[in-house]
Amino acid sequence: MNETYVHGYHPRENERLQDQAGTLVDLLHSDTAYPSGSIVLEAGCGVGAQTLTLAQRSPDARFTSVDVSADSVAEARRRADWAGLTNVEFRQADLFALPFNAESFDHVFVCFVLEHLSRPVEALVILSRLLSPGGTITVIEGDHGSTYFHPDSAAAQAAIQCQVKLQREAGGNALIG
Ligand SMILES: C[S@@+](CC[C@H](N)C(=O)[O-])C[C@H]1O[C@@H](n2cnc3c(N)ncnc32)[C@H](O)[C@@H]1O
Repeated sequence: MNETYVHGYHPRENERLQDQAGTLVDLLHSDTAYPSGSIVLEAGCGVGAQTLTLAQRSPDARFTSVDVSADSVAEARRRADWAGLTNVEFRQADLFALPFNAESFDHVFVCFVLEHLSRPVEALVILSRLLSPGGTITVIEGDHGSTYFHPDSAAAQAAIQCQVKLQREAGGNALIG
């Protein structure tokens, strides 16, 4: 992670992540529900855009949501407090050095994170070790290069290709989905 991070840490980007999560909520989460008592890790929670939906839809599960950005975690915590959530604990942590024992979680949730990593497979291996036997991992990633515009627009296509290029230069892969 560095200053070239495409989906950056600026207020406008935070707002975009919230808009994105709101727009996609039915598509991504229509059948998302973790059983009562489940222990769930959300890796790369950002400003909590998915966290609120997850925790509200599974009020009897307990979530630990982590992000490498302390500022994003602080914002996520503020939003969760504002929403009155009591089943989420936030922690600042790098998913390549997580402070959890093996088999600590029943489920892992990852959304729009692997696309930013230079070692996404290693990240998945690390996360899978944190699962208890029979646990599940949910990964949601985009394929920004397959974006469809109607009516088509050369300028919009060019803008998307800029994103793909910038993300690649930053070590990620915008086509990972
Ligand atoms: C595009 S945001 C997605 C946030 C959230 N999952 C969502 O869907 O709105 C990607 C997030 O991954 C986080 N991230 C990137 N590399 C990370 C790492 N090594 N460990 C933990 N979080 C990381 C970033 O800080 C950022 O908040």
